Amino acid sequence: MKTCKIEEREARESVIVCRKNVFSAELAPLREELLGGGGIIFTDSNVYALYHAQIEKELGGVPVFVMPAGEEQKNTDTLLALLGAMKKADLRRNSRLIALGGGVVGDIGGLAASLYMRGIPCIQVPTTLLAQVDSSVGGKTAVDFGGVKNLIGAFYPPARVLADPVFLKSLPRRELRCGLGEIVKHGALCFPLFEKLSAAPDLFDLDFLADIVPENISFKASVVRKDPHEKGLRRCLNLGHTTGHAVELSSDLSHGECVLWGLIFESKLAERHCRTEKNFLTKLRGLCRTVLESGEKPPLGLGSALLDKKNTAFGSVTLAVPVAPEKFEILQLPFAQYEREIREIAEELC
Ligand SMILES: NC(=O)c1ccc[n+]([C@@H]2O[C@H](COP(=O)([O-])OP(=O)(O)OC[C@H]3O[C@@H](n4cnc5c(N)ncnc54)[C@H](O)[C@@H]3O)[C@@H](O)[C@H]2O)c1
Ligand SMILES: [Zn+2]
Repeated sequence: MKTCKIEEREARESVIVCRKNVFSAELAPLREELLGGGGIIFTDSNVYALYHAQIEKELGGVPVFVMPAGEEQKNTDTLLALLGAMKKADLRRNSRLIALGGGVVGDIGGLAASLYMRGIPCIQVPTTLLAQVDSSVGGKTAVDFGGVKNLIGAFYPPARVLADPVFLKSLPRRELRCGLGEIVKHGALCFPLFEKLSAAPDLFDLDFLADIVPENISFKASVVRKDPHEKGLRRCLNLGHTTGHAVELSSDLSHGECVLWGLIFESKLAERHCRTEKNFLTKLRGLCRTVLESGEKPPLGLGSALLDKKNTAFGSVTLAVPVAPEKFEILQLPFAQYEREIREIAEELC
């Protein structure tokens, strides 16, 4: 038998540009190239309602496919409808897909770009804070399937990401909080960012947020660069997420709010099981509370049945927990113990 080894190609490069009005500055000059099969704009109904006049002004004539807004639309029907629109627009192998929207549009758009003719360039224009600091960086694309989140997907880095702070102006406060959940998580792993967050007079101030978006992107990009296919280090980005997902399934809080609660709970778990810098973890919890903006009690009712299956193999729960500035540990706890301790912590926090 002969074996033949083919070296894997170098990971594709993504260029990320963060600048005010970068959407107009970079895309308007591409209009001619995008006409007649050179490209398509993919967006959702909310973003289209807010920005259709600008799209028309900068990119008039370029086909636009608008999906209904909402996480529940992140499915194969929307994916196939988009692929149908790409075919109808006569896209070719070097045509571009412009994904203009939040993480839902980015995830579906990226996946469609990876599939169409085995891959066409995708330009991501993230319009939510969460998409700017998190989902548009790292090349993960997916749709939900059979009731499982992100079951069908691919690693497909965008050719370009244009993070334009102009879009943040129309975001409801709750969506800003959602992005801030991931930003605080980054802060737990990147001390200069943590200090900036701790010193900020108003974490929701749009100029402040525009100022820290690039830092968040470079932090996430540095983690992704070291672990592009999520084999190890990238697990640090799951900080707060295991418990956060359980909160998400048992409450109507947004993803970012759940991550903030997840960080609060998991930093307490870390104090019980790891050598920690208590001072830092207390400050981290304070930051989470500030962003949550409520003296609310922590959400209870976390059941082990609600935990993400990926994290609950062999009757135990595996979590990445914050222990000190820029440091995390992987903690593995038997199911029943995890559940009991989370309930105890919830009581303590009341
Ligand atoms: N690929 C990744 O690495 C990664 C990482 C994190 C999250 N995600 C995915 O991202 C998705 C969540 O992203 P999201 O929070 O951006 O959700 P989203 O795309 O649903 O956007 C949230 C809401 O804001 C609206 N919106 C978007 N831009 C706006 C603007 N500028 N002004 C006003 N409203 C605007 C949207 O229409 C939507 O109603 C989830 O599906 C999640 O799985 C992916
Ligand atoms: Zn997240």
